[in-house]
Amino acid sequence: MNRRQFMVKTGAAIAGTGLVSPLASVMAQQTSAKKMRLAIIGTGIRGVNTYGKELMADYSDYVEIVGLCDINPSRVKFAKQYIGVNCPTFTDFETMVKQAKPDKIVVTTVDAYHNKYIVKGMEMGCDIITEKPMTIDEFKCRQILDAEKSTGRNCIVTFNYRYSPHRQKIKQLLMEERVGRITSADFHWYLDIYHGASYFRRWHRLREKGGTLLVHKATHHFDLLNWWLDSEAEEVFAYGLLEFYGKNNPLRSTHCRQCNFRDKCKFYFDITKNKHLMELYVAHEKEDGYLRDGCLWRKDINIYDKMAVQIKYANKVQVSYSLTTYSPYEGYRIAFNGTKGRLEAWVHENQPWPMQNYDQIRVTDNFGRTELINVQHSTGGHAGGDTRMKDKIFKNPNLPDPYRQSAGTRDGAMSILIGIAARNSIETGKPVRLGDLTDLKPQPKRPV
Ligand SMILES: NC(=O)c1ccc[n+]([C@@H]2O[C@H](COP(=O)([O-])OP(=O)(O)OC[C@H]3O[C@@H](n4cnc5c(N)ncnc54)[C@H](O)[C@@H]3O)[C@@H](O)[C@H]2O)c1
Repeated sequence: MNRRQFMVKTGAAIAGTGLVSPLASVMAQQTSAKKMRLAIIGTGIRGVNTYGKELMADYSDYVEIVGLCDINPSRVKFAKQYIGVNCPTFTDFETMVKQAKPDKIVVTTVDAYHNKYIVKGMEMGCDIITEKPMTIDEFKCRQILDAEKSTGRNCIVTFNYRYSPHRQKIKQLLMEERVGRITSADFHWYLDIYHGASYFRRWHRLREKGGTLLVHKATHHFDLLNWWLDSEAEEVFAYGLLEFYGKNNPLRSTHCRQCNFRDKCKFYFDITKNKHLMELYVAHEKEDGYLRDGCLWRKDINIYDKMAVQIKYANKVQVSYSLTTYSPYEGYRIAFNGTKGRLEAWVHENQPWPMQNYDQIRVTDNFGRTELINVQHSTGGHAGGDTRMKDKIFKNPNLPDPYRQSAGTRDGAMSILIGIAARNSIETGKPVRLGDLTDLKPQPKRPV
């Protein structure tokens, strides 16, 4: 339950009684309590906006940023000025933790380095809030699980997708067994020629940095499946190919700013028109050579651009999943087939036609009727998911969690392991069992 729902539920009963609402009292205790001392490692776009500027605008009664760190020395200085904080900046993580003494560390680096900072941060006595994907392979995953066990520290994985009102409504209907016991699901995600293409311009194009989109992007989708189905995946079989981006087009350059094909290439991207990207990336590219407007036809691209995955869950649910990265519009289709009917949704995220202010769920009973349920959007990034998740993490961690939206390392692991297993399956042509990748044994019901 988020703050608004809590207020609606308790406010009506309390109004006029002269009593203080339980939420108001918890909030008052929190504000009068010591602020959370937060340090951020990785001051790119997610770090400076979601956990920087937006956090300071909306949560500064609860949180103070005590240190910022990035391997790019001029970007981290820019981050401090952009967020508007007065904390020291660092290029060495251990120095930051020793000097700034944070309680918690937000990890928003390139995916391949999450494990390094999660493990070191916990060893140095801090709790961790890490962005997805928790990490990119089974070896780094094991390091994180071991470090959590040996240090006794806590690590939150920020699965903001769980918090959107529409997805929460689906979760509620599944918990109520509205269409009976679920036996299979179809889940297809379409990234468009803007958003999808952007992954092939940036570091995400290299599997050694982001683990391929089966890990970097699909961790969100696999986590939603695990959460919705309330089970853990047991076995995966997958196909994947790179047949659109990368080597597949000869109009090649290093990056768009100096491309000779700008008139011919439909994907030409003029970064100079975007002030924030110029200030955050281009102004600092001399330090690390990172080109934010990289050519998406570069030959070094080594991830798949179309992926199809079959997943068998420990509770016997079978899932067909696909990810496409060059669709004309963006969105996803999800359908749950149950013993009493079918629950489905077709969600358009960036669409070329007028946006609605709600998403729909279609529930059809076997031998019965179809019910259409409209769920209003809420404001904020990722359909309101970012705000609702930050309320829970930063404002009021003690509020009840009836839909189990908070996630730790087990959930972080079980979602990436599907992508890692899919990657291994593509390479070997064989099914891969998740239980063979780490010590975690997939359970029919997600453990509490
Ligand atoms: N949950 C979401 O919806 C969501 C959205 C966007 C990004 N993210 C996640 O946030 C993280 C950051 O993504 P981003 O879009 O901000 O990327 P970005 O490229 O803008 O920023 C990454 C930053 O990490 C720094 N960095 C690179 N290597 C490093 C190292 N070894 N040590 C320390 N810093 C290093 C870079 O200099 C850069 O400043 C990623 O893990 C990404 O998956 C999540």
